[in-house]
Amino acid sequence: MSFLSNHERPLAPPAMTLVCWLSAGRSLTEIGVDKFAGFRVQQLLSKLSYTAGDAGMPDPVDHDWLKQGSTSSADVRQSYENWVGSYDQDLSDWDYRAPLDAALLLKSHTSVTSKILDAGCGTGLVGTALRRVGFTGDITGIDLSPTSLEKAEERGVYRYLQPVDFQQLPLALSDDTYDALTCVGVLTYVLDSEAILKEFARLVRPGGITLVTQRNDLFQERAFDRTIQELVDERVYKDPVITDPKLYLPGNPDFGSDIQVIYAILTVA
Ligand SMILES: C[S@@+](CC[C@H](N)C(=O)[O-])C[C@H]1O[C@@H](n2cnc3c(N)ncnc32)[C@H](O)[C@@H]1O
Repeated sequence: MSFLSNHERPLAPPAMTLVCWLSAGRSLTEIGVDKFAGFRVQQLLSKLSYTAGDAGMPDPVDHDWLKQGSTSSADVRQSYENWVGSYDQDLSDWDYRAPLDAALLLKSHTSVTSKILDAGCGTGLVGTALRRVGFTGDITGIDLSPTSLEKAEERGVYRYLQPVDFQQLPLALSDDTYDALTCVGVLTYVLDSEAILKEFARLVRPGGITLVTQRNDLFQERAFDRTIQELVDERVYKDPVITDPKLYLPGNPDFGSDIQVIYAILTVA
């Protein structure tokens, strides 16, 4: 597969320049560079800008920020960069069940051969759950945290990985590319739900499925149901299925059974 000819992996302009310079008009695979090379270039650039731009952010490893959340991309990126080393273990200790629940829900709404975009893939728990329940198609992972993407890459379940910021739209991904999209545990950090849901609808083909989660407290606070209804009225989505709240992080004392998670399964109109 030629990396440069693949529209699933558009590069930010500086990375594109570097890759074009490196390949001198030939594909990266032709010159012996593996399929994640472009991702690593982007990752390096992203880390450089992160180091240069966000020094001095608060240390989030104590997790006090988790319940509160933040919609500052710089703060969120800092938090997840700092958390990567223990994220999987912490989430396992808290009995985090959303990835598997999301994967099973998605399986009941789309083919296991679906080409999937895992939006906010983090360290790759959702990609792993999708494989576990039997999805066989390509999965692309995108996220704000470059170090989380490195961890996701190690899992070997993603075909493509790319750093993005959901608060800087449009994303550098092509229209109607995916059969389905998962966005699990992410919308806490994105204030403009309408904009990101519209963007997801652009990336998923008509008739495809967008599955997103929202915490039940934020669902109310941000009037998420009204946002979905407006998008249905605008014919961006149709046939929404909204679940009852389900346990999210039952082993985390700040969440327990108080803060639960709601799944919205939306068909692209
Ligand atoms: C709770 S984690 C969920 C990760 C994964 N989906 C899971 O279920 O394990 C939230 C993820 O959202 C990502 N995220 C938060 N804000 C983002 C933004 N503005 N753009 C892209 N990713 C974002 C974080 O980097 C983090 O990996």
